[in-house]
Amino acid sequence: MIEDALINEDALINEFSKYFGTSPKYFIKAPGRVNLIGEHTDYNGFPVLPISILSSVKVAVSLRHDKKIVIKNISPDYRPVTFELTEEIPHSKQGHWVNYVKAAATTLASHFNNNLLGMNALFDGDIPKSAGLSSSSALVIASALALLTANKSEMDPLELAELMAEGEHYTGTRGGGMDQAVCILGKKNKALKFDFFPLRYSYIPFPQDHSIIVAHSLINASKTESSMHKYNTRPAECHLAVALINAVYKPSQPVKLLGDLPNRDFFNKFVNIEKFIRNTFDHESYTLLEIAGLTNETVDSLTKKYLLNRDGNLLPEPENGFLLPIRVLHILTEAERVEKSCDALCRNDTVGFGKLMNVSHQSCDKNYDISIPELNILVSIMSESGALGARLTGAGFGGCAIALVRDENCKNMIEKLCELYYNEYIKENHPDIFRNLTIDNKIIFEVKPSQGAEIKAV
Ligand code: GLA
Repeated sequence: MIEDALINEDALINEFSKYFGTSPKYFIKAPGRVNLIGEHTDYNGFPVLPISILSSVKVAVSLRHDKKIVIKNISPDYRPVTFELTEEIPHSKQGHWVNYVKAAATTLASHFNNNLLGMNALFDGDIPKSAGLSSSSALVIASALALLTANKSEMDPLELAELMAEGEHYTGTRGGGMDQAVCILGKKNKALKFDFFPLRYSYIPFPQDHSIIVAHSLINASKTESSMHKYNTRPAECHLAVALINAVYKPSQPVKLLGDLPNRDFFNKFVNIEKFIRNTFDHESYTLLEIAGLTNETVDSLTKKYLLNRDGNLLPEPENGFLLPIRVLHILTEAERVEKSCDALCRNDTVGFGKLMNVSHQSCDKNYDISIPELNILVSIMSESGALGARLTGAGFGGCAIALVRDENCKNMIEKLCELYYNEYIKENHPDIFRNLTIDNKIIFEVKPSQGAEIKAV
């Protein structure tokens, strides 16, 4: 059952009836997430360790008898839209909220050979936007569940999560499968370790009497334009690194993802990750032309394979080239940290887990270059105020930092962050942001693992 307090059902029903002239048939709740550790590992075929949080996207929905999808949002910031449910739905402007609904709809239309009817759907939500807490994937999953439920169709949760991970690429991002998976499968009081290709999961105990403090840097991590390019460059770099690894070691079966490496003899003969990286890469940074030369491909074919997004946009070559060795270093060491974190949490070793979180943040910053000064400051305030571990969470380039804290220290940590980050750092360094700032529980809050997506008949 959905925790009723979280869904303002009456408001949704009233608004739905007013707008559509009928009552909704179902409510869907699709939560956001916090990733505890394992950043950018998912699309490389390595594990992640997220939890679902209470904030969610909510939808009231009913079936239509035609192929139209009519969507409206409680918030006036998002305009109502109608579009036709087909296997090839044209994109709206990049960043428009309807693209996330369209991503779910077009993917399901293809999956069900265009045999689904349309829906009327009213959305509401309280996941902070552009905060790296997966509001986009929650919207995709909420839309998918709304369409499926209205049509009285069901899918295996793992299959749906995999389908939607791929489906979300429609919006132009090249994310992995973590967000969709934890949105669907999240579990109260548990962290989930997900492995990918194929998607599978296990529950990992979340330490009793501990919480995660989430603090927004106030720098938006929006998945549009420049942020999207920055994010998408990372999967591209990992794929280019794989191409180079295949060129260097010429395995009889080419490696497809960095996540294949631990199963390969040529990789395992190195005593450690650093030695493998030193042996594989001659330079710190590579141009596309250099990679083409080393892999016997043309710049054109590399561009088409690795730099073209599904929405047709092309990723620009980074000014400093592709920093392949440190990107690979992050991914391989982060994967090890996820395994060690699961072991630590199973032993209830919160100190050990906290240390791994700290090292993960350093690697996200120095090697994967997805942190920003604001996130680094948040993390250091957290560490100095008694966090067992602290790090950025999610895609990076803005958004939130998280800290693992004992419950009795939450209040103190929140006070410290308000004082030192929002009222001092932000005031001095971002007066424009500070001027309009309300420090409330949308900006800084504590979470424990919550239940994943839920469906309820009205
Ligand atoms: C985004 C993506 C995820 C994952 C994280 C980084 O949230 O959607 O698939 O790659 O970034 O860990």
